[in-house]
Amino acid sequence: MEKSKPKSPGNSGSPGFGLSGEPGGAARGIVHPEASPEEDDREGSLRPRTLKEFLGQKGMKENLAVFISAAKARNESLDHLFLIGPPGLGKTTLAQVVANELGADFKVTSAPALDKPKDLAGILTTVSEKTVFFIDEIHRLKPAIEEMLYIAMEDYELDWIIGQGPGARTIRLPIPPFTLVGATTKAGNVSSPLVSRFGITCRFSFYGQADMEAIVRRSAGILQIAINDDAASLLAASSRGTPRVVNRLLRRMRDFAQVRGRAVISREVVAEGLERLEIDSLGLERHDREILRIIIERYNGGPVGAETLAISVGEAVDTLEDYYEPYLIQAGLLQRTPRGRVVTSLVYEHLKLAGGEMILQDCSFNGPAES
Ligand SMILES: Nc1ncnc2c1ncn2[C@@H]1O[C@H](COP(=O)(O)OP(=O)(O)O)[C@@H](O)[C@H]1O
Ligand SMILES: [Mg+2]
Repeated sequence: MEKSKPKSPGNSGSPGFGLSGEPGGAARGIVHPEASPEEDDREGSLRPRTLKEFLGQKGMKENLAVFISAAKARNESLDHLFLIGPPGLGKTTLAQVVANELGADFKVTSAPALDKPKDLAGILTTVSEKTVFFIDEIHRLKPAIEEMLYIAMEDYELDWIIGQGPGARTIRLPIPPFTLVGATTKAGNVSSPLVSRFGITCRFSFYGQADMEAIVRRSAGILQIAINDDAASLLAASSRGTPRVVNRLLRRMRDFAQVRGRAVISREVVAEGLERLEIDSLGLERHDREILRIIIERYNGGPVGAETLAISVGEAVDTLEDYYEPYLIQAGLLQRTPRGRVVTSLVYEHLKLAGGEMILQDCSFNGPAES
């Protein structure tokens, strides 16, 4: 499994994916920050390979650069690294970048792929000195595997049980000092013994407008797409601060420009394209607006508990919390309070501007929504 692609959460069997009923289904929509498996492949060419190419996240990047060069100067492996942030912000990318910058091997897996201790042991016995070993969705590790990982991280040893029953014995195998990079969208679900074994923690934040514009320009350059500055700026503003989303929208805008016979993506093309995709000025799409509207219409604007809300909008609680809420909260539209979710006054204004009344008529609340 070690060479398998890190799976994104929705593609790896977490229960219940609401609306369309299939992971990565149509209801995910275009601004959904999660990658489909095919997209993982397509993203390859756009993935930054070095810290210099990795745009934004300035403070985090500067610190990392220091830790990397210090580890290199001491000829040691880098401390274990914990990456926290919503999907699509660059966790997997950064793990690869770190390996590249260290000039080290890179091994990849995701927690759901580690079923038995032998799955983890199989990888750990092949790491070499300074290898960067990336575990995606690390909040989903099984307890037995987590135990094994503690010892590997702390003592660079592998506990291995030989035989069965009364004759069974444990041997400890030394493994070379490696760097574990663990990524999660849900830091709160990672056990504290595991958290405490990471020496460096990087928290991703949504990208600001300037960084998003830089990412659009970089991606357009690589894909050889011509795009005007004001078009890039509109696209950046409508992509919920998420590089994966902006890259996806850029490709769609290229399609729109192409069918209209335009060689360059202009602001008009982007504006029309976004309208067709039902993406509004804040980068929300229809399902985001439905969630907000349900809170207003059924729960008087909140507070409503996450579980109740999830049922009302036809999503798994995890999906709601990992994919929809982070951006709604960051955009100042939603608040998490001890008593539940509450919409802010911004929502009332925004839904009016987004032509919400029309959208309301054709949204289905509890059942699967057609896209
Ligand atoms: N800092 C960045 N600069 C430029 N592009 C980025 C950056 N972070 C992410 N991307 C782009 O976004 C895509 C998704 O990033 P990824 O690392 O897969 O996100 P995550 O693992 O957090 O879900 C990548 O393929 C890459 O093209
Ligand atoms: Mg990832």
